[in-house]
Amino acid sequence: MKKNILVTGGSGFIGSAIVKYLVKKKYNVVVFDNNSRGRSRRIKDVNKKISFIKGDIRDKKKLLSINKKIDTIIHLAYINGTKFFYKKPFEILDIAVNGYLNILEFCKIKKVQNLFLASSSEVYQNPIKIPTDENEMLKIPDIHNPRYSYGGGKIFSELYGLYFAKKYLKKFVIFRPHNVYGADMGNDHVIPEFIIRFKKIGKKKNFLIHGTGNEVRSFIHVDDFINGFDKVFQKGKNTEIYNIGTTEKVKISRLAHLISKIYKKKIKIIRSKLPKGSPSKRCPDIGKIKKLGFKQKISLRNGLKKVIFND
Ligand SMILES: NC(=O)c1ccc[n+]([C@@H]2O[C@H](COP(=O)([O-])OP(=O)(O)OC[C@H]3O[C@@H](n4cnc5c(N)ncnc54)[C@H](O)[C@@H]3O)[C@@H](O)[C@H]2O)c1
Repeated sequence: MKKNILVTGGSGFIGSAIVKYLVKKKYNVVVFDNNSRGRSRRIKDVNKKISFIKGDIRDKKKLLSINKKIDTIIHLAYINGTKFFYKKPFEILDIAVNGYLNILEFCKIKKVQNLFLASSSEVYQNPIKIPTDENEMLKIPDIHNPRYSYGGGKIFSELYGLYFAKKYLKKFVIFRPHNVYGADMGNDHVIPEFIIRFKKIGKKKNFLIHGTGNEVRSFIHVDDFINGFDKVFQKGKNTEIYNIGTTEKVKISRLAHLISKIYKKKIKIIRSKLPKGSPSKRCPDIGKIKKLGFKQKISLRNGLKKVIFND
């Protein structure tokens, strides 16, 4: 009999891709999401094959009312989107701490065996080593900068989870996604923000970006992300941590030029101030998931075309 899996945040961008992957693998899926950023259209194709519960993970009663025997939880519910790190630090931490503790309580009471936790590249902040492996020091560089509510919440989730798991779980696996992009990802990220602006750009050539344009990121298309997640889900070891991303580095100015080429528009980059705390360089070392069999298949250029032409 196929196992029952609870996906929190399952109508979100990454969550919905994971839900579709699990349905394809014939798991029984329960989605728990308050739809604050989740969209039911993302899971409409599998709607009849899953159970959807609208609820907030901070609502313990609602969470515990799930009456199916759950074997595994994939925990993604969190507030994502950089602007919210600055605008809603308390809510981020409330979900990261109180919501997460409810998930762990659920595991304890309902005897859930396996928990997969979505952490983030934000736990590294400005990493010392690039590419950055999973042993990099995790940090909160400035306790007064609200940006670090997001990364701080993830550090707490990892740390508390590791010791909780020793007592109550059979398997606890952490994955750290690095800048995942794809269609219908929500507009609060650099790639969709650029695309929206390119659609409206007309003859104007000036293109404003936050920072010098020399900031480096590595983006992974959501289809490649799912391949990486599949490896972690099937082969990930108890209490291990896995970066999921690519080593294809790109400067933000180059990203803007790549998109401008697809739209056949010429631009002049205008630089501005970077939000306080935004890391200058980020690129994961993916040696660990490569050992599990992961390989990047979609280059950034092709991935951007996939998003823009909706293919
Ligand atoms: N997208 C990325 O590049 C990226 C990078 C690093 C880490 N992550 C992590 O992966 C996970 C998924 O990210 P995403 O990009 O799909 O974000 P998303 O915002 O699209 O998905 C998060 C989902 O959680 C739901 N949610 C938020 N608060 C909730 C609450 N209190 N109760 C129930 N549901 C709640 C939202 O409605 C949404 O559907 C998050 O944990 C995020 O921190 C994502």
